[in-house]
Amino acid sequence: MKYFQAILWVTILTTVNTCSEYDFQVNEDTDAIKEYVRYGHYIELKCCSRDTTVEVTWYKWDNDTWVTLDSSSGEYQFHHHRQVLSINSASFDDEGLYKCSKGISGTSLLSNRQFDVQVIPCDTLARGPFPIAPLSCSKTDAKIGYSLTLPCTGYFGCGEKDDMRLVTWLVSPLDKDNMWKPVSEINDERYVTTTFSREGYSVLGSNLTIHRVQEIDFNRKFMCVLASPQMIDGQTKLVVELKNDGDVSLQKAVLSPQTLVILVTVVTVLIFISIVISALAIYKTMTFKQTRSKRTISRSPICLRALKDSENKEFDV
Ligand SMILES: *[C@@H]1O[C@H](CO)[C@@H](O)[C@H](O)[C@H]1NC(C)=O
Ligand SMILES: *[C@@H]1O[C@H](CO)[C@@H](O)[C@H](O)[C@H]1NC(C)=O
Repeated sequence: MKYFQAILWVTILTTVNTCSEYDFQVNEDTDAIKEYVRYGHYIELKCCSRDTTVEVTWYKWDNDTWVTLDSSSGEYQFHHHRQVLSINSASFDDEGLYKCSKGISGTSLLSNRQFDVQVIPCDTLARGPFPIAPLSCSKTDAKIGYSLTLPCTGYFGCGEKDDMRLVTWLVSPLDKDNMWKPVSEINDERYVTTTFSREGYSVLGSNLTIHRVQEIDFNRKFMCVLASPQMIDGQTKLVVELKNDGDVSLQKAVLSPQTLVILVTVVTVLIFISIVISALAIYKTMTFKQTRSKRTISRSPICLRALKDSENKEFDV
């Protein structure tokens, strides 16, 4: 699991907002480059140049004319001196022809590149769930006495009504057992969940509405769980805590239950080995006080350090 997460992160970190291809020579007649994006997912179009002083302008073919794009609506983001155009959450309105146009330094020439963006509503290979409309990081009114809605939406791939797909909210109660419990088991009528599906059951969501926020809500955690029977990426969790100042903080729980079980097991075994080694060392020191060899004494701290190192690595996800 951790291995896949690591690969996923490497892929994400190396693909996002990078200019890898430079100085293309494409003119108006060349076919548009086909770009596919799944509904609700991130996409970027690249028009890279080594010369960062080059002016890049982006257009979308709309109503029989090229309309210049800017970031004012929040729908488009620009990176790398406007050489990369990105859309955070693709909708069907984002389909169509895009064009980047850049001036070539010292000349009046323009170089163009066209993209034909298509939004795929549903994967034939069901993957996910991926959170596509996660909880807002922006300031949410979490003042005492007010209501608050925490949305959580996931993309599950192609789906049928009866598929095993789960979007649910759990609450961490104040009990000592500290077990996460489904909202329905909390017996607090102020918590109301509304589940919904879109795009033919490939998008599932659940809104948790907290009516009349109370002091107790600031001490609780709320977790949205998205789950499908997929082996890899089959479960995603989002944990929210309410803050009295109105902040809602979002943290994506990167550790799956399986990873946690493995971690706990490894740590327990390591601690056990350390205890055994220490006990052995003490035992040997006591028993063979007269004949003790320097090797036994010097070996145990090294072993312990090696164990500590591998223990640290386990947490270094
Ligand atoms: C498209 O362009 C035509 C002609 O310029 C105009 O009448 C129409 O209102 C435009 N439609 C939209 C949706 O902008
Ligand atoms: C869920 O919450 C979002 C954001 O508050 C809202 O736009 C949406 O309409 C809600 N959906 C349902 C089914 O209540």
